[in-house]
Amino acid sequence: MEIKKAVIPVAGWGTRSLPATKNVPKEMLPIFRKPIVQYIVEEGIGAGISDVVFVTNQNKTIIEDHFDRNFLLEQLLERAGKTGMLDEVRRVADMVNVIAVRQKEQLGLGHAVLTAREVCKNEPFAVMLGDDLMFGRNTGIGELIKAAQITGKAVVGVIEVPEEKVSKYGVIKGEKIEGGMYRVTKLVEKPPVAEAPSNLAIIGRYVLLPEIFEILEKQKAGVGGEIQLTDALQGLADQDKLVAVKLAGQRFDAGDWVEYLTANIYFALHDEELRDELVKRLQELLSCSG
Ligand code: G1P
Repeated sequence: MEIKKAVIPVAGWGTRSLPATKNVPKEMLPIFRKPIVQYIVEEGIGAGISDVVFVTNQNKTIIEDHFDRNFLLEQLLERAGKTGMLDEVRRVADMVNVIAVRQKEQLGLGHAVLTAREVCKNEPFAVMLGDDLMFGRNTGIGELIKAAQITGKAVVGVIEVPEEKVSKYGVIKGEKIEGGMYRVTKLVEKPPVAEAPSNLAIIGRYVLLPEIFEILEKQKAGVGGEIQLTDALQGLADQDKLVAVKLAGQRFDAGDWVEYLTANIYFALHDEELRDELVKRLQELLSCSG
């Protein structure tokens, strides 16, 4: 099974990050040197993705522009002799094929995925959500692609979360099978703590087969009045066609300010040039009370 396309829904308003996201898409907020969406796209590329399908709206076109050439900027950098930065700007423009489809109404994640149907056609594809940033060796969508190749089934990425946080996520019930995978039997979108089937929460990484579109087409609105992808996945679980993979590594929820800021610090601390100065400044900040 070859997986070349990743659907990245980007039509959401980013209300958790207002007012920063009033006119700047949340996917374009920077984490250290790069916009959030670039990390997602690079994770996909690292796993063999060559085409990204942005499910977008009219206020989000700068996301596509980020992965396109900008000749004026390139000329300017060339004249200024800033060749390192010029190479970087061109690298981003050339890293992936971009396809954009418009989600004309915000009817939920399931609806966003259904919007990509004409582009994905009969191929299996990945879905990657911009709010979930995964870092660390061998983590993220590549692990799910491997699991899909081994099992021939759709795959969701999960992590363990503290019990009191389960209601922020889609939660699965699964039975452990070989290779660190789970056979998923039940999924509940944003359950009350008492009704959660486990503490294994879906994070925004999926590998889906085209069969999901037939389910999504008929899917009724669920929690929050939205067409939920999680509810559609229950249709696969009922036929034993869904597995879950527990992802390793660090995960940041980019829509949460503490997590967003931590992700910035995480990257800056991994940058040799900045590390020492940053540690010094952070220590100063922590030791001053004002
Ligand atoms: C979506 C999914 C949910 C999943 C979450 C991960 O919810 O519906 O199942 O756990 O992403 O980030 P959202 O956060 O968009 O409300």
